[in-house]
Amino acid sequence: MAKEFWIGDIKSGSYDGEEVELKGWIHRTRGSNKIRFVVVRDSTGTVQCVAKRDSLSEQDFQRISEALIESSVVVRGIVQATDREHGHEIQVTHATVIGPVNPERPFPITESAMVEADGGETEFLLDNRHLYLRTGRMTTMLKIRSSVFGAIHSYFRDRDFIEYQAPNFVSGAVEGGSTLFEVPYFGRKAYLTQSWQLYAEAAMPALERLYTMAPSFRAEKSRTRRHLTEFWHAEMEIAWASNDDVMEHGEGVVRHIANTILEDRESELENLGRDLETIGRFADSDYPRMRYDEAVETLQSKGVEIEWGQDLDYSKEKILTEDFEVPHFLTHYPRIAKPFYHRPDPDDPKYVLCHDLLAPEGYGEIIGGGERTWSEDEILERIGEEDTPTEPYEFYIDIRRYGGVPHGGFGLGVDRVCTWLAGAEHIREAIPFPRDSRRVTP
Ligand code: 4AD
Ligand code: MG
Repeated sequence: MAKEFWIGDIKSGSYDGEEVELKGWIHRTRGSNKIRFVVVRDSTGTVQCVAKRDSLSEQDFQRISEALIESSVVVRGIVQATDREHGHEIQVTHATVIGPVNPERPFPITESAMVEADGGETEFLLDNRHLYLRTGRMTTMLKIRSSVFGAIHSYFRDRDFIEYQAPNFVSGAVEGGSTLFEVPYFGRKAYLTQSWQLYAEAAMPALERLYTMAPSFRAEKSRTRRHLTEFWHAEMEIAWASNDDVMEHGEGVVRHIANTILEDRESELENLGRDLETIGRFADSDYPRMRYDEAVETLQSKGVEIEWGQDLDYSKEKILTEDFEVPHFLTHYPRIAKPFYHRPDPDDPKYVLCHDLLAPEGYGEIIGGGERTWSEDEILERIGEEDTPTEPYEFYIDIRRYGGVPHGGFGLGVDRVCTWLAGAEHIREAIPFPRDSRRVTP
């Protein structure tokens, strides 16, 4: 049953005039009782198959004529180059329907169903997400997403980072209690992790350069264009590193991702209407850096109400990105705006040595990272400021008791990067089964 021929390979022309066997799904079908035009899709593309009544057995012709959209089929025929829009056709000699579709339950995602949904298209497609995955736009997104994952792995592995896994059940917050998912844990409470970071820092003295790609969880109650409750988090941690060193890697990995999809996914980007030159700019440029104070001044000069010390929410990030054509870093946030693990700036401890990377075109934060508080005294002071119990963090403090060193890292929201690079409107377009406060099915 192994498949030997892929529809996408037809374009090369090297199969012209040859007999091939296609395995795929019916994308469209029309015709008469003499000739049927069946467009077959596989994961690599579509091709029109022309089935003439007198070129195949009566039974084959009947079955392929009656087969509905999304029936799976095996079709044999001769590849023929044409000067029509689709370039190549198959002149069918044999056709077998493998998995038929029941006429009482035709494939639900149709243009008329979308019209009927009348404004409720989004929910309709989310309800049918398991079927929506096989449509062109989603397939294209999933291919881009795969290349983004591959690029992140290759960036870190090529630089001798070790891939390392942290637990998903944890006993304390990393990014603040308001977005913690609580799970019953044998009579106690546990939480789903918001970030691998604290456990990565534990391995930092062992591995020195480490990274991961794993799900992180945030109980985000509001549904926004940028938040999921379960998202894919690419994180790195590096010993003997400053905030600047960590930023170099953030810039490096994002440029490498942009380069990779330009090389591997040109046609997919074009399908999505993404301008390749724009992606080229993300791949080649240096990313400017701006301190938090400067960002506040910029915002105030644009008439935005903001006080020094406030964190920058999405509405403010969006305005800041208007001035840049490439991603830019914001650094040195006020200490009071950031979690305890951020290291106070020795030159001015009102600030911490941290960074966010904001994607242009209004997309906003894709990376958050910085240098870590690495001495025992400083970490106790920082945890004390937050008024949180130290018990869940005992192990974290302990790391500092045995040969602390300067170190840092970042977390990159992979789904956000996919959304931005694909030019999508909403983060749920970039992940197969998006999770938010209202939806865990399908
Ligand atoms: O800025 P965040 O909260 O930083 C951390 O979690 C650090 N502990 C990471 C580290 O230093 N190892 O999250 C990092 C990134 C954000 O910049 C964003 O891209 C993404 O994770 N992110 C989300 N993506 C989708 N949905 C959400 N709810 C997200 N929350 C954060
Ligand atoms: Mg952040």
